Amino acid sequence: MKAVILPQHGGREALRFVSDFPTPSPGKGEILVRVKATGINYVDIVNRQGYPGIALPLPHILGGDIAGEVAALGEGVDGPKVGTRVVVYPLIGCGQCPQCLDGKPNICLNWKFIGLHLHGGYAEYALAPAANVLPISIPFEEAVTVPVAGLTAYHGLVNVGELKLGQIFFIWGGAGGLGTMAIQIAKHLGATVIATAGSEKKLESMKKLGADHVLNRFKDDIAGEVKKIAPFGVDLLLNYVGPQTFQTSFDMLKKGGTMLLCGIITGRETNFSIHQTYLRHLSIKGVYLGTKDEMQALLRLVEQGIIRPYAGVTLPLAEAAEGHRLVESGESIGKIALRVE
Ligand SMILES: NC(=O)c1ccc[n+]([C@@H]2O[C@H](COP(=O)([O-])OP(=O)(O)OC[C@H]3O[C@@H](n4cnc5c(N)ncnc54)[C@H](OP(=O)(O)O)[C@@H]3O)[C@@H](O)[C@H]2O)c1
Ligand SMILES: [Zn+2]
Repeated sequence: MKAVILPQHGGREALRFVSDFPTPSPGKGEILVRVKATGINYVDIVNRQGYPGIALPLPHILGGDIAGEVAALGEGVDGPKVGTRVVVYPLIGCGQCPQCLDGKPNICLNWKFIGLHLHGGYAEYALAPAANVLPISIPFEEAVTVPVAGLTAYHGLVNVGELKLGQIFFIWGGAGGLGTMAIQIAKHLGATVIATAGSEKKLESMKKLGADHVLNRFKDDIAGEVKKIAPFGVDLLLNYVGPQTFQTSFDMLKKGGTMLLCGIITGRETNFSIHQTYLRHLSIKGVYLGTKDEMQALLRLVEQGIIRPYAGVTLPLAEAAEGHRLVESGESIGKIALRVE
């Protein structure tokens, strides 16, 4: 099959397009998906370079967002039937720990992430457990905005941050794959949204998605502007940028407010005031993907047209390295997808 493989970790040049990678066969309980589109996520860049603490068998196939058609059913699987349009929930839990039994494989101790621990969607075919395969009625390139970026935004805002009607939500990088979903989910929940981006074009796109206040992180005094909009601070803030935006984020929180952490773009460690945290009743919470139920709930919102996936650029599979360049350069708006033909 055609695939973009990673024979060894490295820069964009490490990605290699091949036409003769062995096509996998579905094992017991698995489905073989004929991939039609796959998304590029920031984690693919980290994974390409070598994910800290996770040694992958190489060559590896990246890609946690998989949308396509059911191509074959493994032993013991009786549906969905061949040809059904589907999207894949990207996490596989151990199935035995208390979190898995509670339907939360994203908190499983021995979780596996398709595209990270297992071969992903940068290929003509991909395998997934039958339970992870969800039928869809939306275009493939829209569907790939849901499994990783969309799901994390949904899980973070709805169930971890418990964002509510009338609250103020702030996000750094609202024009990215995760940000474009987060803005819309926050508006759907009835919050006021303040979002930053690095160019005027991105600010425009965030306004169109419903952001109430948009700020240019290179030109505006972010903390000063937020103070004018929210004199008591923001209720919920999503920070995937990391240490560089941590202190400003911390200072912008309302008393009792929550900061969600879900990314490490500028580093993995930071310092913060324990004293201020308890004095101001602050919560700092980690967000890692989400559950299958949450993904289904988000898919329903997309199918109803309430959330509109922002499919920024779609490239042919062979141009995966260019897709990585777009993600790394920060030029892109919304999701970068790869079309698999
Ligand atoms: N924990 C999880 O489960 C999970 C799941 C999905 C994604 N993530 C993480 O979420 C992050 C975003 O993912 P994505 O797919 O949305 O990536 P993306 O589409 O590349 O968007 C990233 C955005 O970050 C902004 N940014 C970059 N550096 C910044 C800085 N120093 N200050 C403020 N903003 C900055 C950029 O916007 P401007 O340059 O326009 O400001 C860019 O639009 C990544 O770190 C990813 O690893 C985590
Ligand atoms: Zn488990």
